[in-house]
Amino acid sequence: MPETLPAHGDVRLRPFNDGDAAMLVDMSTDPYVPLTGTLPFQATHDEVLAYIRRQHGRLHTGYGYSFCIADARTDEPLGQTGLWLASIDQGRATAGYCVAPRSRGRGLAGQALRALTSFAWTIEDLYRVELYIEPWNAASVRTAEGAGYVREGCLRSHQWIGERRVDMLLYAAVSGA
Ligand SMILES: CC(C)(COP(=O)(O)OP(=O)(O)OC[C@H]1O[C@@H](n2cnc3c(N)ncnc32)[C@H](O)[C@@H]1OP(=O)(O)O)[C@@H](O)C(=O)NCCC(=O)NCCS
Repeated sequence: MPETLPAHGDVRLRPFNDGDAAMLVDMSTDPYVPLTGTLPFQATHDEVLAYIRRQHGRLHTGYGYSFCIADARTDEPLGQTGLWLASIDQGRATAGYCVAPRSRGRGLAGQALRALTSFAWTIEDLYRVELYIEPWNAASVRTAEGAGYVREGCLRSHQWIGERRVDMLLYAAVSGA
């Protein structure tokens, strides 16, 4: 984890702890969220604790950084954001974000993405951060564009989301731009 935790506006990005379980239970009630990560749909308390353990392991396995989005003032957990490093040898990373349903509608994902992207540029040999967004996901598109990401195209039939074969909008930010 970075010595100085990434922050922007009202949010700070920090490691998960067991006190974040109730927020993650809330997050798991959105049926889309389990399709894009390892949090089970309508997760039990034990399942969210296992999810938290997996997030702690992300850095050790070289998979990337998984942060809890937290209120910068109160430390209340609000969501999750990640910077994934599978293509770091090519100078690229992928980002993702999710806000718990009870905390949506306040632009928190955009603030978290700005914090995450500023942090990304402190990583040596990282030049480009990509986002993959389904075309219907207007809130995510607004989040990306508000944080300065540029739409580069639509990748047709790009991947599976659950049992659907879906198109993905490709957004990216590049260092120094
Ligand atoms: C995407 C997500 C993180 C955004 O959460 P948030 O920060 O609370 O987003 P907000 O509700 O504040 O909306 C952000 C922007 O989108 C706009 N927006 C939200 N819903 C919208 C809709 N249905 N149509 C058009 N615009 C919409 C808001 O008006 C706001 O615009 P602004 O920046 O101009 O003010 C949240 O919806 C979520 O967690 N979704 C499930 C996981 C997910 O889809 N993650 C992204 C995968 S690519």
